[in-house]
Amino acid sequence: MRKPIIAGNWKMNKTVDESISLANGLKRALFSIENVEIVLCPSFTSLGELVDVVSGSNISLGAQNMYWEPEGAFTGEISSKMIKSIGCKYVIIGHSERRAYFGETDQTVNKKVKAAIKDGLLPIMCVGEKLEERERGKTFDIVSRHVEKGLDGVSESDAVKVVIAYEPVWAIGTGRNATPEQAEEVHDFIRKILRKKYGETPAENIRIQYGGSVKPENIEQLMAEKDIDGALVGGASLKEESFIDIVKKSSVVLKEK
Ligand code: PGA
Repeated sequence: MRKPIIAGNWKMNKTVDESISLANGLKRALFSIENVEIVLCPSFTSLGELVDVVSGSNISLGAQNMYWEPEGAFTGEISSKMIKSIGCKYVIIGHSERRAYFGETDQTVNKKVKAAIKDGLLPIMCVGEKLEERERGKTFDIVSRHVEKGLDGVSESDAVKVVIAYEPVWAIGTGRNATPEQAEEVHDFIRKILRKKYGETPAENIRIQYGGSVKPENIEQLMAEKDIDGALVGGASLKEESFIDIVKKSSVVLKEK
């Protein structure tokens, strides 16, 4: 049985004080949620403080990026070892904004996924097609390339530590989410790839989140789908009420699923 995971990707938003205030509000409102794993991914500058805020609660932390080398002359970079050492559990890898603006490729994503696992972090590996790729009928080609190359050389026992986030690029920050049917179609496809690569049990255990304009108004329909195991939430995770609503609604849907 997969425990669904709702993660807030705060992107490049919020000062340390703002982050502490939001995390405190979420902690108070969501303390009784047990059937959903709750993860916050603030900026690097807020991570250290939030470790104290969420300590002892049902909220875990993730970083938004990392570098694959453990240490050395890589000015401006942060390693998985460093992220793990401050108390993070997750790290987002290969977000489409990193692929689009910072030159990340399937190869760099793969290196990061392997380094994260080696250092004891759980990667949230993002995959997904751009609008023109969907319109050209290339969605499955792109998604399968992202999944296959991202997990290249990752063993069966390590693959179950990975969370895959299906995020169609055309749905990110646009207000236009994939319909539950469109999302489920791709999630089911990803699970088939995993089944072929790793066999039935690992494929059934790997969580696949949906991301792209998730909000309180659409979370229930998305979560009701068989292969949607949570959400990676951007814009709607920056507001206390909307993230609380998303987590609580997911929790209710899961009890009925
Ligand atoms: P969004 O972002 O919810 O604002 O569309 C999702 C993401 O980029 O992870």
